[in-house]
Formats: sequence, structure tokens, C-alpha cells
Amino acid sequence: MLHKDIFEELMNEEELEKTVSEIAGRINNDYRDKSLVVVGVLKGSIMFLADLFRKITIDDCQLDFMAASSYGNSAVSSGNVRITKDVDCNVKERDVLIVEDILDTGNTLSFIKEHLLSKGASSVKICTLFDKPARRKKPITADYTGRTIDDLFIVGYGLDYSEHYRNLPYVGVLRSEIYS
Ligand code: IMP
Ligand code: MG
Repeated sequence: MLHKDIFEELMNEEELEKTVSEIAGRINNDYRDKSLVVVGVLKGSIMFLADLFRKITIDDCQLDFMAASSYGNSAVSSGNVRITKDVDCNVKERDVLIVEDILDTGNTLSFIKEHLLSKGASSVKICTLFDKPARRKKPITADYTGRTIDDLFIVGYGLDYSEHYRNLPYVGVLRSEIYS
């Protein structure tokens, strides 16, 4: 059953599972003999990351987290990115894969990517479940994308609006009257 604030469903649990499996397959292939550090961006990536990470079959694989704030509690990106939690492990000369819920303006991910490169990572790639290229402000593309979407505000499966709806097991388009 759809939550009352959801206009329509974008991806159900089955579609999410299939998409995550496809991405995991590509990652397993690309990083087969490498030493990988997966960096989840809190909090929006948690569901995606939990499902993705258990499908990663690379032997030498570590998990870490970062958090950055740019949105505050609004649906509009401020453009100011601040790291509120840095990685714990040493990424120097490691291959890093950033896992994010959605690539929107690109402000957050370009900042995080630069940050990890400045710490000496040998490569930094981006894996995002959703991509809204129409809203891009920074010249950044994802290396792995689940689904490219129009300029809609979506929630569920970790994605929030003002810290709500993260617990929905599917991804849905939020009714515009909720955020406008
Ligand atoms: P960016 O820095 O503008 O690319 O913003 C990325 C962050 O904005 C994501 O990690 C999300 O937290 C948030 N965001 C952007 N679009 C949406 C959306 O449609 N639903 C929920 N969060 C979003
Ligand atoms: Mg987020």
C-alpha cells in the first residue's frame, strides 16, 4: 500500500532488488582482483548499501562511511557542502567506490570525490542508485547508476524528505504539496 504522501511508486521492492543485483554484478567484474574500499554516504545510501554490499563478492573489500550536509532540511540544495563525518580507514593508494542514494546537483559528490582523492586514493568511482542529470551544477557523472530520473522529488528506501520516509520499502514520488 502506498503511503498517503506518495503520488506514485517509482520502483517497487522487486525492481530495486533487480537493479541492485545488476550494479553488484558490474562492480564484482570491474574490481575482481582489486582491493576495494566502499564508502557509503550517510544517511540516504544505507538501504541501497546494505543490499548492494552483501552482493559484493570481492575478497579484499572494506566498508566505511562519510556524511556531508548540504541540504539542511529543505528540498533545495544550498551548494555549501560540509563534511560531518570523514572515513575512518586510510584510503591512500586504495581504490574507492562511493555509494550514494541520488546524484542531483552534484555538489555533494564532487566535494566528497575531491576530498577522497586529496587523501591519496588511487581511484575514486561513484555508484548511485538514482541520477537526476537535469539538475546538475557540477561536471560530474556516476560510474554506476541504477536509474536516471526526471526532476522529481523521490523518497523511500533510505531517501528522505526532512528525515521522513526513509523506512518505506519502495521508492516513490513525493506529492509536491508536501514540499512546496
Ligand atoms: P546534490 O549535492 O545536489 O547532488 O545532492 C545530493 C543529496 O541531495 C542526496 O544525497 C540526497 O540526500 C539529496 N537529494 C537530492 N534529490 C533528492 C530526492 O529527490 N529525494 C531525496 N533526497 C534528494
Ligand atoms: Mg542524502
